[in-house]
Amino acid sequence: MSHSTDTLNGDNMLTTHYLKDYTVPSFFIKTTDLTFKLDPTKTEVTSVLTLAANPEAPTKGTLFLHGESLTLKSLAIDGKPLKADEYVLSDKGLTLTHLPAAFTLTCVTEIAPERNSSLEGLYKSRSMYCTQCEAEGFRKITYYSDRPDVLSEFTTTIIANKAQYPVLLSNGNLIEAVDLDGGLHKASWHDPFKKPAYLFALVAGDLAVVEDSFTTMSAREITLKIFVEAKDLDKCEHAMASLKHSMRWDEEVYGREYDLDIFMIVAVDDFNMGAMENKGLNIFNTSCVLANPKTTTDAGFARVEAVVAHEYFHNWSGNRVTCRDWFQLSLKEGFTVFRDAEFSADRGSRTVKRVEDVSVMRTMQFAEDSGPMAHPVQPASYMEISNFYTLTIYEKGAELVRMYHTLLGPELFRKATDIYFERHDGEAATIEDFVRAMEEASGRDLSQFKYWYSQAGTPVVQAAGDYDAQEQTFKLTFKQYCPDTPEATSAQKKPYLIPVNVALLGTQGPQALTLEGQALNSDEVVLELTESEQTFTFHHVASEPVPTIFRGFSAPVKSAYPYKKSDLLHIATQDKDGFTRFDAFQQLAVVAIFDVMAAMRKEESWQVEPLLLDGIGQLLADENLDPAMVALMCELPSEAYMSGLSTPIEPHLLHRAREALKGAIAAHYVSVWRSTYERCSSDKAYSFNAQDVALRSLKNCALSYLMAAPDASILNTCLTQFKHSDNMTDEIAALSALVKCTDPAATSLKAEALNTFYERWQNEALVVNLWLSVQATNAEPGALARIKALMEHPGYDSQNPNKIRSVVSMFCNYNAVNFHAEDGSGYQFLADQIIVLNKQNPQIAARLLSPLVKWKKYDTNRQQLMREALERIHSEPELSSDVYEIVVKSL
Ligand code: TRP
Ligand code: ZN
Repeated sequence: MSHSTDTLNGDNMLTTHYLKDYTVPSFFIKTTDLTFKLDPTKTEVTSVLTLAANPEAPTKGTLFLHGESLTLKSLAIDGKPLKADEYVLSDKGLTLTHLPAAFTLTCVTEIAPERNSSLEGLYKSRSMYCTQCEAEGFRKITYYSDRPDVLSEFTTTIIANKAQYPVLLSNGNLIEAVDLDGGLHKASWHDPFKKPAYLFALVAGDLAVVEDSFTTMSAREITLKIFVEAKDLDKCEHAMASLKHSMRWDEEVYGREYDLDIFMIVAVDDFNMGAMENKGLNIFNTSCVLANPKTTTDAGFARVEAVVAHEYFHNWSGNRVTCRDWFQLSLKEGFTVFRDAEFSADRGSRTVKRVEDVSVMRTMQFAEDSGPMAHPVQPASYMEISNFYTLTIYEKGAELVRMYHTLLGPELFRKATDIYFERHDGEAATIEDFVRAMEEASGRDLSQFKYWYSQAGTPVVQAAGDYDAQEQTFKLTFKQYCPDTPEATSAQKKPYLIPVNVALLGTQGPQALTLEGQALNSDEVVLELTESEQTFTFHHVASEPVPTIFRGFSAPVKSAYPYKKSDLLHIATQDKDGFTRFDAFQQLAVVAIFDVMAAMRKEESWQVEPLLLDGIGQLLADENLDPAMVALMCELPSEAYMSGLSTPIEPHLLHRAREALKGAIAAHYVSVWRSTYERCSSDKAYSFNAQDVALRSLKNCALSYLMAAPDASILNTCLTQFKHSDNMTDEIAALSALVKCTDPAATSLKAEALNTFYERWQNEALVVNLWLSVQATNAEPGALARIKALMEHPGYDSQNPNKIRSVVSMFCNYNAVNFHAEDGSGYQFLADQIIVLNKQNPQIAARLLSPLVKWKKYDTNRQQLMREALERIHSEPELSSDVYEIVVKSL
């Protein structure tokens, strides 16, 4: 506290926290005993803490307990009540002084869950009570050392009306359940594993349950329960199966077994994020746990599987070994994302999963890393930790873990994770501890690798090749640099250790390699780039090769190689690796879109890049290829992806060029798309497996092309699919294709289909969200008026984050032509939304800022308008720390 810097935001003091200022806690909390008497406006929380001084703490006898929005009722030390002059209260917490080395603190506070719209702390989601404590929500429940390096053994007692709240849950094992007078009942839970407060959870509600069991590798029987509203009981099967697969996978791949006798998941409607790994009691956004073919798309099924796995894997990477402080957030998040990505790759298609994840990196993380909120994977400072649950912490963090896996190989990597888990079990660890385990397992010095944690920004690697026919050598030269970011200039940054996975393509695909005179028994090699410029020489190269670099995206960098268009098509059709083929073909498509934009800018005529057309033709003709890969490769790079590749971004031109190119490809191959559509159609009942998912993805890719140049029979095909599908994947794909269709013949059909769809699905909140999103991303002119109307529709709920994401966030991030309207109306709309949400739900408000944060990437007119929107938010009197931090850093 003493070193951090304070900033005045209106009347609000905002503190910047620095990693370098870490100090150990002055007291440990050995046990935490909580009793909740639940009430919507007067929940009484009694906490009994046994405290012991930390012998290593520099200051003795003083304790600061965090606490926000609490009403303090009473405070006692070792049973003796404290008078008001024996402690200091502020709006941030409570300070106690002159304390003995060990004592019991009893504290009674009162909170109002019903009035808590921030969805942090204890709140109500519809009829149920639930909690969200990560990162710093526990302090809204009671006074506490709300920091992850204070680990305590929790016992929780919940008292509530039995008829309204028959189910009372908390972490660990149920130790008592009794009925009380006055229609009340009480349940007590004990969690034998010490944990920080951010992993605490409580749920009370009228919930139905699906029960199953899992036998661990040491033959322990674990009870598995998923709690949902009774109407959703038919949507739990997939999450339960995913949970069991995750449990087995963590045993097989990491040797990690589950520890408690029970594992529970609860689905809640109002949730700021995807899900939360509370010990033994995971709380999930309904969108990340409920799945049924009729209501859930393939993407939804995949998301449920991944999030269930992610939260389950946290039991080791996060809970058993937790974080010392929030600067270490990526220690648990990056590692756990890597774990869930590998799990998903093993369950479905490895290549498809990699392509999807890399596209998130390139489209969203690279954008974050090149904007004003760019931060290192281990940030050096923050104002509001909620703002640091970012793509950089999660996705880039996972890429760093993947690089260890690449550099060490699977065996040494596993040896390292064993060291890490065993050494730090029950502790709060640091990123440094994780790196040390990697170093010890491999015997390598990884000090240069650590720049990946401390330097923000996306490194740029420029490569060039030089073939010498005489010598039969091929020299690959790499240059690396990292652009300026808020915390450091390019010149201040040290070169990274960058693993570059390379293969040399001859006419027959990848060739056997001899590197620096040494024959490798492989046609692929991981080069380790350590200098700002470095050359690697391959020998015995019989003819000029086409090199492929960063195969599998072996490092999170922007790479460039001066390929000819024909090289790209060669890689896309000849390489043995699916990711590499995708990557090359996407580069070709990018060039093709830029070509159309250039022609349109000059109002010249243009034609589809013939090699792109040729490539698509080859892809669609080859029935041996994985249909999912064909679909991914035929899909043109998104506007969001293209936007990251050049400045200033020209949203309208980009949209027009991409649509025109798509239309031309559609028209050129109408009959091929037709036959592809038919080849991929089947009347088999829906099943979520890689093969069927792949066929549906190619079928719907074909449909979307067909609908870009429709005739009456295609419209009919689309309508038939819309009306008669047995699953949401096909139903929503047809609706979306129809809504996107710019042909006048589709106009009346659209409105009718949207109505039919709503009528049919109005009672399924998650399906209504899909319906909202399809409309929010509709690029037709006049979207803002449609958005405002949608927000008045009974299917909308201005308090629910999923609804806000489906409409506001989808509009602002995926409807560029309307959001970036020349008159600034899109920006004004977003600023209005953020100003309202700033009071209601600061975390969601702050997340919505991201499209405005990128203002410097647009033309001067838009820059001006976007800045004005940010300034208007800035001038609001009571900005939350969440919104304030991002606005100030952006301006
Ligand atoms: N630890 C959670 C996860 O990634 C993240 C999370 C869930 C979260 N809810 C949150 C973070 C609310 C901040 C605020 O699995
Ligand atoms: Zn996580």
